[in-house]
Amino acid sequence: MTVRAARVEDAEALWRVHVASIRRLCVGWYSRDEIEAWTARLAPGGYVAAMATHALVVAEEAGAVTGFGELDAERAEVVAVYVAPDAAGRGVGATLLARLEAMAREGGLAWLTLCASLNAEAFYARHGWRPIGRERHPVGDTVAVDCVRMEKRVAA
Ligand SMILES: CC(C)(COP(=O)(O)OP(=O)(O)OC[C@H]1O[C@@H](n2cnc3c(N)ncnc32)[C@H](O)[C@@H]1OP(=O)(O)O)[C@@H](O)C(=O)NCCC(=O)NCCS
Repeated sequence: MTVRAARVEDAEALWRVHVASIRRLCVGWYSRDEIEAWTARLAPGGYVAAMATHALVVAEEAGAVTGFGELDAERAEVVAVYVAPDAAGRGVGATLLARLEAMAREGGLAWLTLCASLNAEAFYARHGWRPIGRERHPVGDTVAVDCVRMEKRVAA
């Protein structure tokens, strides 16, 4: 597996991984309506826009994108870590998260926060993140989903 900066031509693959990841890995934690609203607002162009303002990295295996991570350094926030369902459970998420944390540390940040989807709270806790409160994360004009605000000190 390699981790590299996302490129504009990855946008469609990022969108596919994102939608599939939500549909398959968040099921059971969110209602069908919530998952529909969450995935419906996603589109390839959104990742191109994110590349301009955030750090976006992709995991690639045999030429295929198997996951991605997004860091908003200005807000000291991990915006996303999503892994393709077929690639889950073999270290892709941990590798992406470690890369984002290293980028933040190298950029001089001491702390990071994120809003973990309920299914991912244990994953982040496993990597040293601490829950600090429940939040509602808007995923459309009228729908918001429960998430857990978490934080981690990334400076030595
Ligand atoms: C959460 C997610 C990113 C984890 O990615 P992954 O590649 O499957 O995770 P990894 O294989 O790197 O797992 C790393 C460690 O975390 C643990 N872990 C992974 N997912 C977990 C989960 N849902 N609950 C508990 N532990 C989990 C693994 O057991 C592993 O532990 P180990 O090192 O002791 O073996 C992935 O399941 C995903 O994309 N979920 C849907 C999208 C999502 O909710 N993203 C977060 C948005 S905030």
